[in-house]
Amino acid sequence: MIAIADDLARALRSARFVAVLSGAGVSAESGVSTFRDALTGLWANFDPLELATPSAFRRNPKLVWDWYAERRAQLARVLPNPGHHAIARIEASVPRFLLATQNVDGLHARAGSRRLVELHGNIARVRCSEDPRHAVEAWDDVGDEPPRCAHCGAYLRPDVVWFEESLPAQALCAAEAAARACDLLIVAGTSGEVYPAAALPQYAKAAGAIVLEVNPAATPLSARADYALRFPSGEALPALVRAAWGEDAMAGQPSCAESSREGGNGAR
Ligand code: OAD
Repeated sequence: MIAIADDLARALRSARFVAVLSGAGVSAESGVSTFRDALTGLWANFDPLELATPSAFRRNPKLVWDWYAERRAQLARVLPNPGHHAIARIEASVPRFLLATQNVDGLHARAGSRRLVELHGNIARVRCSEDPRHAVEAWDDVGDEPPRCAHCGAYLRPDVVWFEESLPAQALCAAEAAARACDLLIVAGTSGEVYPAAALPQYAKAAGAIVLEVNPAATPLSARADYALRFPSGEALPALVRAAWGEDAMAGQPSCAESSREGGNGAR
């Protein structure tokens, strides 16, 4: 049983504008690996410089393509967890809302989040590596190189943001505007190590918002937080929703056990 402070529950219930910044930790209970957790994090086991930069793709396009193709296939088998559902429930319960996620797994949308910007893209999408405007719906994944763009013949690549690349401008602008305008910013499941997303709590705090961190571990963002729930988000966020809107507010939502049943460790 997670105790939620009365004034935090009240702040959520009475907020006119709630913003959420989410990171890989929110999907951890769906069986998706985070990036920086020791031992289990993707970047503890794979070198991001070999897999998640434009130069890595130029050097070895097939290696990068295959790594993302495998993650895409794994992510297709996982389900949103109660943390994702709680965020969708908050959206449905407050007048204004924006979720800015760093996650590329699409689980927030599958849980029902609609006012959502994907700061780092979405792994389910594929696009031309030369022209980002050329998104591709279907492709043939055979042979010893990535499939090619029908317009220009360049390789296709996952529609995610790599290190050294800019974030989608519209998504970032919307996230920054929300951070500056919200009454309450919930920062869930992110290490706060990757900018510009990690600057959002700073903007919110400077503009007078209440900042809540939901993360079992402290992060560089913790110093800016007014409240911290040091629990997994799949437990803390539903508890927060119930504290704000009553015990029935999360009724009918799947449990953590149900959401990890399909994906399990297969997605790691
Ligand atoms: P990280 O892997 O850096 O951080 C995950 C955070 O989630 C850590 O602070 C954990 O303590 C926390 N965490 C773990 N389990 C949790 C749980 N059940 N509930 C809540 N929190 C939990 O992931 P991000 O901060 O999302 O970028 O990483 C940011 C970006 O770095 C990613 O979007 C990715 C990566 O390189 C790109 O791919 C461009």
